[in-house]
Amino acid sequence: MPTRTLVRSDDYVEYCPQTAKHARDLHDLALRGRHLKELTKVICESLADVVAFGPGDDLIDIGCGDGTLLRIAHQRGVKSAIGLLATDEEVDLMRRTGLNTRQALSHQLPLPDACASVVVSNNVLLAVPSEKIPASLREMCRIAKPGARIYIGEVPSAGQKDPTPQFATRSEVLSHMYRKHGLRTWFGMLRRMIWSQIVGKPLTILPGTAISFFATPEEFVQLCREAGMEVIRHWPHEHYGGRNNFLLRRAN
Ligand SMILES: C[S@@+](CC[C@H](N)C(=O)[O-])C[C@H]1O[C@@H](n2cnc3c(N)ncnc32)[C@H](O)[C@@H]1O
Repeated sequence: MPTRTLVRSDDYVEYCPQTAKHARDLHDLALRGRHLKELTKVICESLADVVAFGPGDDLIDIGCGDGTLLRIAHQRGVKSAIGLLATDEEVDLMRRTGLNTRQALSHQLPLPDACASVVVSNNVLLAVPSEKIPASLREMCRIAKPGARIYIGEVPSAGQKDPTPQFATRSEVLSHMYRKHGLRTWFGMLRRMIWSQIVGKPLTILPGTAISFFATPEEFVQLCREAGMEVIRHWPHEHYGGRNNFLLRRAN
């Protein structure tokens, strides 16, 4: 089939509603893989230990995924916990849990100045376009109370080869879907292809696997300082090689 009928988008925000639509379990919103629910819990528990939630804390979790950290924060007695998600489709799923979640993008947070004593964004910035990183860091700083803890986790230090190949034809897409995700996904893609033919629109492939932002620890520390943060410490991620976690605080 002709190449022009196939379009690829690496915009992660376009990919998120698709995840919500096909979610079979809430944990699918953590986008870590179906079999890694326990790992999400382990990562969030250790993150909660690092920021040391206390009873007076107001938490904002930017890109809260399936809400695991919000649940842990409540168990540890925080005063309030709000989770932000990239799209309304994810928020609709999360509302059923009773957790406080809202739609927002990291570079434009619909929250007042100095409303949080803990700001977290774990495994999110890698999907944010590089040009929006400085504004995202400034927003984290703006919503943080003076001295608030800011945790930014899973920042890749280098780019990596995208596991999803560039497809030239629809049959390449189909065979990739079958090999990687099995018959159910293959059939779903086939249906989308037939529909796009019927309505005469190109088929948009949203792999959600490309890394949009990466920085060495030194580069990232510099960006955080420019946004008004002080670095407390940074360290390599315990489970994902090549990624780093940063514990910071608002400078004034
Ligand atoms: C890979 S999940 C991480 C979930 C959770 N923080 C964790 O560590 O398990 C990425 C999350 O970031 C959110 N997200 C994606 N792009 C975003 C953006 N530009 N601004 C804010 N959140 C975004 C998605 O809605 C999703 O909840």
